[in-house]
Amino acid sequence: MVWAVANSNLALVKYWGKADEGAKHPASPSLSVTLDGLITAAGVELTRELSADVVEGLPPSVVPKVERFLDAFREGFGVRSRARIVLASNFPVAAGLASSASTFAALARAITAAAGIEVDDGELAEVARLGSGSACRSVHGGFVEWRPQGAGSIVEPIASKSHWERLRIVIAVTSERPKSVGSSEGMRRTVATSPYYRAWIEGGRSDLEDVRAGVHGRDLERVGAAAERNCLRMHAAALGSNPPLLYWEAATVAAMRRVWQLREEGIGAYFSIDAGPQVKVLCDVESEPAVKAALAAVPGVLRIIVSRPGDGARIVERAPHWVAPPAPSARAEAAAS
Ligand code: PMV
Repeated sequence: MVWAVANSNLALVKYWGKADEGAKHPASPSLSVTLDGLITAAGVELTRELSADVVEGLPPSVVPKVERFLDAFREGFGVRSRARIVLASNFPVAAGLASSASTFAALARAITAAAGIEVDDGELAEVARLGSGSACRSVHGGFVEWRPQGAGSIVEPIASKSHWERLRIVIAVTSERPKSVGSSEGMRRTVATSPYYRAWIEGGRSDLEDVRAGVHGRDLERVGAAAERNCLRMHAAALGSNPPLLYWEAATVAAMRRVWQLREEGIGAYFSIDAGPQVKVLCDVESEPAVKAALAAVPGVLRIIVSRPGDGARIVERAPHWVAPPAPSARAEAAAS
């Protein structure tokens, strides 16, 4: 089996709406930080001996997305083999921690290697995007911009992880359950029914300028204020959908309020929330203990994960130690083939 790992990412300016539904090109630019320590490992074996793909290690609701990715990959690269895939993440999957980003970045890296296809990072981002839009950003480490270009889109790393080593992302996990409406369906619904969708797309431009300039200048206040505003506007657009999309839990709102209170107390902390209930708080390394303690004390917060800018997708020699061995059924099938 060929193994690769990739980190999740947090969009400081969010992708919420496709210009091209099939090819997953975004309607507006986004900019993310790749999150150290929130890892998905993907193991891939390509074989002619299976009659169907075997996908292990994911909640059943996510498996069809992987199967569609495999079909698109085979079609794109003229590969005929079936795949045995093992996926494992060291954080909750499909719960708004961008597990699809790390999953498809790792899978893209592993499957191209398993198929003996040589790709550069730009091409790898294209492969990852077949699975999930945000995955194309997790191919790279550090700070990554993904923007529409012509009829397609382009992914560009704008700063390395070492550019801003003091940045911390403190994540308050408020639910470990998979969310009820996935991001693809959420986006479709917002584009089709939210009267605020146009305003959301237009407002994103100035957020992007602020975040990009703020990242270059390591300016937490500028990045944080723009990221927080951008996140709230994405959720406002989603809330305006019919039927409405509300990704937050009570603890999500309590954590948001706690972050505002921290700022009143003089601590530079700013939140962002993806399509789920987890609250991701940007702060400086010096404020990390205070932010962590404050969020841990919010009722309903289950646990805290601390991250920082991390690396892109990469091949590893073997599965990380936290990956469970294949299920007995897959072992039996492997022995039989
Ligand atoms: O790539 P998807 O389909 O998982 O969508 C990602 C959507 C957000 O996480 C909410 C925003 C983003 O830019 O990552």
